[in-house]
Formats: sequence, C-alpha cells, structure tokens
Amino acid sequence: MKIEKGNKISIIGAGFVGSTTAYALLLEGIASEIVIVDINKDKAEAEAMDLSHGAAFLKPCNVKAGDYVDTKDSDIVIITAGVGQKPGETRLDIINKNLGVFKQIVPEVVKYNPDAILLVVSNPVDVLTYITYKLSGFPAERVIGSGTVLDTSRFKYELGEHFDIDPRNIHSYIIGEHGDSEIAAWSLTSIAGMSAEEYSTKVCEHCGPSLEFKKQIPEKVKNAAYEMIKKKGYTNYAVGLAVRRIVDAILRDEDAILTVSSLFTGQYGIDNIYLAIPTIVNRGGAKKILEVDLCEEEKEKLKASGDLLKSHLNEAGI
Ligand code: 2OP
Repeated sequence: MKIEKGNKISIIGAGFVGSTTAYALLLEGIASEIVIVDINKDKAEAEAMDLSHGAAFLKPCNVKAGDYVDTKDSDIVIITAGVGQKPGETRLDIINKNLGVFKQIVPEVVKYNPDAILLVVSNPVDVLTYITYKLSGFPAERVIGSGTVLDTSRFKYELGEHFDIDPRNIHSYIIGEHGDSEIAAWSLTSIAGMSAEEYSTKVCEHCGPSLEFKKQIPEKVKNAAYEMIKKKGYTNYAVGLAVRRIVDAILRDEDAILTVSSLFTGQYGIDNIYLAIPTIVNRGGAKKILEVDLCEEEKEKLKASGDLLKSHLNEAGI
C-alpha cells in the first residue's frame, strides 16, 4: 500500500524496549515509517513483520527492518540498543559494555541522519546521552535522553495510589540521574495547587497525620526497575510509553515540559553533564532547561547526582 509521507522514526535495538516502543508508536499513529535496526537481523525482521500485521487495525505506517542506510533522513532516531541490567546490577554497572556499543552505533546513525533528533533510551541513559552528544557532534538540543520521564510517571502513579487521585492530576517530577541518585522534587509537587504535605494533612480523608509516604514513595519509585528485573528480567511497557510521550512532544511541536535528560550548561551550578530536569521539548528538541525553585536539599542532591555521573564518565575515560 502507498503510505503518504509523514514522520520517519528509526529505532536502533529490537530488544524488549525497542520493540515495545515501536508498538507504542504504532498505536499512537504518529509515524508514517518506522525502521528497526538490530545486530540480530532476524529479530528485527520478525519484530517488523509482527508489528506490520496489525495494519488492519492501525493508521497506515510502513514498518520495516533495515540497516543504518535505511534510517536515512529520519526525523527521530531512538537508540535502545545495548545490554540491560541483570538482577542486582545498577544502571551504572553496565556503562562499559554499552559504551562500546554506542561507539559503533552513533557514527553510523549520524552518517545517514545529520539533521535528526537523537533520543537515547539505553542505560545508563544520562551517561550514554552525553556520550552520544560527544560522538555525534550535534547541538545539545538535538541529543536528548529519556531521563526520568518514566520515573516521573512511576512517581505520579504511586502518589495517585496513595492519595486515590488520578495520576494525571498530579504535578510532580523525579529529577537527576535515571538511577539510584535520582531525586523526588517534593518542592515542585502539586495536587490541585497544594503541596503533597498540605493535601495529605488537610484534604486526604484516609491519609492520617503520618508523612512517611514522603520517604516510602521515592524509595518505591527508585527500586521499581530492580523489582521488575528480578521478577521478569527487564522492563518495557512503561518505558515504551514514556518514549512515545517524548516523541509526541517533539513531532507535535508541543513545548511540553518533560524530565528528559538535557545538557546542563551552568544551571544550578552544574556544567557539561546530562541529567534529567524539567525541560521544554518541541520540534527542535530540548529547547530550554527550566531553572526552577528547588529547595536547598534538592539542589545539593542534584549537584551530587551530576558529580556521581561525572566521576563515572571520568572512570570510563570520557
Ligand atoms: C527502568 O527504569 C530499567 O531503566 C529501566 O525501567
């Protein structure tokens, strides 16, 4: 069938995250073409075939497997390739394995996509986004990491469960590393204009006086991936939806505020590192980092998160 030319998205890596992302994008109907590249060509072929067979139920989209040359002139290239964490491993533990993978991938992507936006999802995402920025030579606004968009959704979900509120009516952000040093930004959390503390003590009928949730919920969010990796070996659905949300914000030129991983250039006293922070995202990519009013403790933790990532980059020789 002839499909009208629209947005072209390439996905590098046909593992659980790459293929679930392709599925989420297909359901959204925002792309006219999705190209899946994987070192295992059979896997990429099979995923493309399986996804294509949903054609009768979806908006037209040409899904195919290909090589880097087939990604040519993509609007967005999403990189999900590399190994995932094994049970007990942190995201930062897999840095060296995926660094080698990215050294192979990024030059190939850049060769065929000099004008694309690169969206990095592989872990450790902040470190690999920085590496992609360096290897690509692209302007920072066109190199984005999925950051803590997923963790922020997990946070809203847990707050929603705790307060019995639709998570979409909760404004809150997880910032910093997508990993163990991430920070729940309580100072930016708002439910109907109230802080979580105020909502808990003044409005919530079942909450009681305890503010233990302020400790428990961030821990739950931080450890969510560990629990799922232990039980099923990987995570894929919510991250696929988080990537779909970022892709939407880009392609629909939304000026959405998302906690993508962006290059800090002095904001909060942090420089030359990618970290997640509320960022305006539109067709140009990461348009602007918002330097919002964090409390002192959050600022210190954000700085520490940046320092931790810097020390890992140094150790990896970057
Ligand atoms: C996640 O948080 C493993 O980074 C992945 O689900």
